[in-house]
Amino acid sequence: MLAAMTDLLAEAKAGGFAVGSFNVYNLEGALAVVEAAERTRSPAAIQLHSPAVKSGGPPLVALCLAAARGANVPMAVHFDHGSSVGEIEEALAIGFTSIMADGSRLPYAENVEFTKKMTTLAHSKKVAVEGELGRLAGTEGDMVVPESEGSMTDPDQAASFVEQTGVDALAVCIGNSHGRSGTKDRLDFGLLARIRSAVVVPLVLHGASGVSEPSIRRCIDLGVTKFNVNAELRGAYVSALSQGLHSQPPDLAELMRSATVAVRDVVSNKLRIFRSSGRAGGMV
Ligand code: G3H
Ligand code: ZN
Repeated sequence: MLAAMTDLLAEAKAGGFAVGSFNVYNLEGALAVVEAAERTRSPAAIQLHSPAVKSGGPPLVALCLAAARGANVPMAVHFDHGSSVGEIEEALAIGFTSIMADGSRLPYAENVEFTKKMTTLAHSKKVAVEGELGRLAGTEGDMVVPESEGSMTDPDQAASFVEQTGVDALAVCIGNSHGRSGTKDRLDFGLLARIRSAVVVPLVLHGASGVSEPSIRRCIDLGVTKFNVNAELRGAYVSALSQGLHSQPPDLAELMRSATVAVRDVVSNKLRIFRSSGRAGGMV
């Protein structure tokens, strides 16, 4: 069933677990997330970032929404890293039920202005909004931020950012980064605890690929309620496809299925680590 992201996050916050939000690019990705969520009885989210939306267009979004509606567990469909007014307006028009207004590349005052404007617009359509404060290093699609340009979230600024913009969730920068390169386990848990005490909205950790299980669990204990995962799913998809290409001629249906199963297994393991397995019951 299609669910509101705010409901998933509220349930997770109250229940001491986190919502896994997984980037997909096509039907195989969407099916993998739904199958993993159903097999583990877990609420979850399918998310698309701008390069995926540009490539798949409205049919891909419609496909993700249909997959979520058909699931027997609650699922949100989220537009990830929306960084311009145009793409967020388009995302709202196509039917995403949750968006990220990512103004993290902007100076603070402009980030507030952009995020507030997008939040007002999204809320008028009953769509939830995630903002970001600080600047995440690493690579996510066409967004490449060198480590030297990354910056951490300031807890005091976080409190006024949430208050001024009205966002429903806040993505934090505490040493996390996008992609698989570099050390993924250098998280500043003291900073996370200070942000948690400064703001009331659910916190989001981007760049969850490659972060160790103990670190993920510590993040949940310190208030992270949503994890974004992309690179690990992509890796599983690509390696399943390349292995399948050895059989000649390749059977396309089998190839697609093996990619779905490979991604599904990665998602299932993440849902277990996020402590969301078995938590769909109270929400359906
Ligand atoms: O928004 C998407 C995520 O932050 C993905 O990060 O590729 O490091 O898992 P990741
Ligand atoms: Zn991200």
